[in-house]
Amino acid sequence: MARILVTGGTGYIGSHTVVELMQQGYEVIIVDNLSNSNIDVLDGIEAIVGKRPTFENIDCTNYVDMDRLFSRYQPIDGVIHFAASKAVGESVEKPLMYYRNNIGSLVTLLELMKTYQVPNIVFSSSCTVYGQPDAQHLPVDESAPIQKALSPYGNTKQVNEDIIRDAAHADANLHATILRYFNPIGAHPSAMIGELPNGVPNNLLPFVTQTAAGLRQELKVFGDDYNTPDGSCIRDYIYVVDLAKAHVKAVERMLIVPEREQVETFNLGTGRGLSVLEIVRDFMEATGVKVPYTIVGRREGDIEQVWANPKYANEVLGWKADTPVKEVLLSAWKWEKRLRNIV
Ligand code: NAD
Ligand code: WQD
Repeated sequence: MARILVTGGTGYIGSHTVVELMQQGYEVIIVDNLSNSNIDVLDGIEAIVGKRPTFENIDCTNYVDMDRLFSRYQPIDGVIHFAASKAVGESVEKPLMYYRNNIGSLVTLLELMKTYQVPNIVFSSSCTVYGQPDAQHLPVDESAPIQKALSPYGNTKQVNEDIIRDAAHADANLHATILRYFNPIGAHPSAMIGELPNGVPNNLLPFVTQTAAGLRQELKVFGDDYNTPDGSCIRDYIYVVDLAKAHVKAVERMLIVPEREQVETFNLGTGRGLSVLEIVRDFMEATGVKVPYTIVGRREGDIEQVWANPKYANEVLGWKADTPVKEVLLSAWKWEKRLRNIV
């Protein structure tokens, strides 16, 4: 079976993807410097799959270490590149760190892929590249215009996409799949792996589950005066396991469809937008646990509403994100309870 190098494979989306890849029989090599994940994630993966993935604690920006890795594990059939720093606010404070890490990792990888003749990369991009699409582009498909990024983090995704396109243009052997994720949420149904936010969560779902667990007093809903049906912002929340499965489909396509375009881009979402207040209501209904919340002012830089048109991924990858949202919210709660030893 094919050998796949997964950078950032102990992270949130990476770990769920490693599980799905291994369950399909792929040989996985994880590279992660544990800057935003924990080595125990390997135990979780092993508990689910019954097998431990190969793990290398290496920084993807370190050319010498990465060169050694490529040499040691040849032949590598494809790379999934998750490794990146991802906190929007932190990127505003430390832009150079974000450019070094997120751009440096990709450039190092692409150089070594050329040296070692690894022909395929799947790249983690984000719906953030679309900014706030205008009404005629909602739901947003892959042809919607890219808008100037609102943060250095967002800009690293745009620049990385450009780097991939330029590298592919110059090298007919390089094939790339750019996956633009909408808002990943939830945890593996086993609750053996899930999201591990650092400190006070910025993202909605971890804040909701931590509030439900009593770690936070109340959720602050950032604005109810948007031009949406209930006034709160709308996003396309996609189950992380569905998202992980899309990576397996992308890898399959990479390996067995040689006549595809050199660079393909897919929006990965459910096709359905949910408001912040709908998420809170659905969470309470699904779990029976109360989440105290108050409405506060808008958060700077927030997009009002965005959700995906995932038709292209549905058709070309033969993939669909269809796990019911309440099941997804329950998985997030089950994971939070396990983390906090709540029975
Ligand atoms: P995560 O932080 O949980 O995982 C990223 C992993 O990469 C971590 O384990 C971290 O230790 C590792 N890493 C970071 N820099 C590294 C380096 N230089 N060398 C080796 N390892 C390094 O994040 P995630 O939510 O799983 O996101 C995965 C990817 O998906 C990222 O590229 C992120 O930008 C992108 N993405 C995430 C979201 C989201 O909401 N979670 C949305 C869109 C896109
Ligand atoms: C979702 C909604 C908030 C917390 C960010 C990045 C984006 C992407 C995913 C990687 C918004 C509201 C949140 C809270 C709230 N990452 N909210 N109270 O902003 O869509 O996207 O993560 O690429 O780049 O910007 O996700 O989970 O932070 O917020 O009311 O305590 O929940 O205002 O409407 P967002 P989020």
